[in-house]
Amino acid sequence: MAAGRRSSSTSALVSLLLFVEFVGEAAVGSVVTVPGRRKKQQRQGDVCDIYQGSWVYDESYPVYDSSACPYVRREFNCLKYGRTDTLYLRYRWRPHDCDLQRFDGEEFLRRFRGKSIMYVGDSLSLNNWQSLICLLHAAVPDSSIVQSTNGSISAVTFQDYGVSVMLFHSLYLVDIDQEILGRVMKLDSVSSGVVWKTVDVLIFNTWQWWYRAGEKQQWDYIQDGNEMLKDMDRMVAFRKALTTWGKWVDSDVDVGKTRVFFQGISPSHYNGTEWNQPTLRDCSRETVPLNGSTYPAGLPLAVSVVKQVLDSIVKPVRLLDITTLSQLRKDAHPGNHSGLWGMDCTHWCIAGLPDTWNELLYSELSASTDTKEE
Ligand SMILES: *[C@@H]1O[C@H](CO)[C@@H](O)[C@H](O)[C@H]1NC(C)=O
Ligand SMILES: *[C@@H]1O[C@H](CO)[C@@H](O)[C@H](O)[C@H]1NC(C)=O
Ligand SMILES: *[C@@H]1O[C@H](CO)[C@@H](O)[C@H](O)[C@H]1NC(C)=O
Ligand SMILES: *[C@@H]1O[C@H](CO)[C@@H](O)[C@H](O)[C@H]1NC(C)=O
Repeated sequence: MAAGRRSSSTSALVSLLLFVEFVGEAAVGSVVTVPGRRKKQQRQGDVCDIYQGSWVYDESYPVYDSSACPYVRREFNCLKYGRTDTLYLRYRWRPHDCDLQRFDGEEFLRRFRGKSIMYVGDSLSLNNWQSLICLLHAAVPDSSIVQSTNGSISAVTFQDYGVSVMLFHSLYLVDIDQEILGRVMKLDSVSSGVVWKTVDVLIFNTWQWWYRAGEKQQWDYIQDGNEMLKDMDRMVAFRKALTTWGKWVDSDVDVGKTRVFFQGISPSHYNGTEWNQPTLRDCSRETVPLNGSTYPAGLPLAVSVVKQVLDSIVKPVRLLDITTLSQLRKDAHPGNHSGLWGMDCTHWCIAGLPDTWNELLYSELSASTDTKEE
């Protein structure tokens, strides 16, 4: 099948599911914040924390022209849907203590020849997945690229390199089973792990859906051990599910084969008080990032839960610690220039911020392949 064309009958279903998910994500709950303090990540042997830095104007960005990438979904295709300011495309993340490597798509494809990369999670994984596909496509636009879908999995394969870049749609990572009672979220089971563990690079994410209630809630009961509950403290549930996932990493992932990453909490911008603009209720007027390296409102509480759970995992799992650098990018959301619905200050334009997330991933992967034989 040709590049840029979906052709299996399941793809319509997957698109529908993603669409439903998107509509569900338009409303965003309040952000609980931990003011001020941030624990610097300790990384053995590292001289530079690539997640501490600031945004600088750089004429050489963006890395690709989004109109030339046939894979951008309408909900991220800001320029196509009427965004006229383009300054937001021209910022580069500059860590305090080093420079990030510029993304080299051809080098990436050569290095991962024959390998598979999978983003697992909600629509922020979709956002991230689309960015990597466009970054790679821009490097080898004339090569053979095939799209396919199978159940929860969407894949784009760069055939000349045998590199498959996949998306596994999962809102909570843990299972949701249809039972007689209704839809039961099982806090202690990640049965999709049997698929995940066959992949070479895994990038997980879950958060957006944990506080959803009413019609947007995707389960009717929560099973926690032997208890069947109608509801529970959502942060506690989130922690338990992540812990289950962490135990799966420790018991099932072959770290000789698979690199595991967790894509940190992606912030939204619906509350101007967080960035010292108390009259604002969305991101629609934002055209430049915040200066400096800290976000006035501090970090969401979920970030500390993620860090604590990751710290409890024995096997190597890297946090793509994108929260603060993304909080500074109040200008990088679709706003009202999404091809789908009203105001989206949750997801990110493509080209745009997720390209930086993937540059950070690239940097992490380069460091890890360099030291793999230690
Ligand atoms: C907006 O953010 C501020 C600062 O973090 C917080 O105190 C306030 O409760 C938030 N408002 C809403 C409506 O979430
Ligand atoms: C779809 O995925 C299932 C489970 O991973 C696999 O058994 C099946 O062969 C796949 N089908 C296609 C057409 O690739
Ligand atoms: C941000 O920094 C730039 C360069 O130092 C400066 O020109 C600009 O006025 C600053 N913006 C704000 C809002 O402080
Ligand atoms: C989007 O928002 C901007 C700024 O508020 C406004 O000028 C513009 O008319 C809006 N566009 C659409 C399509 O609603």
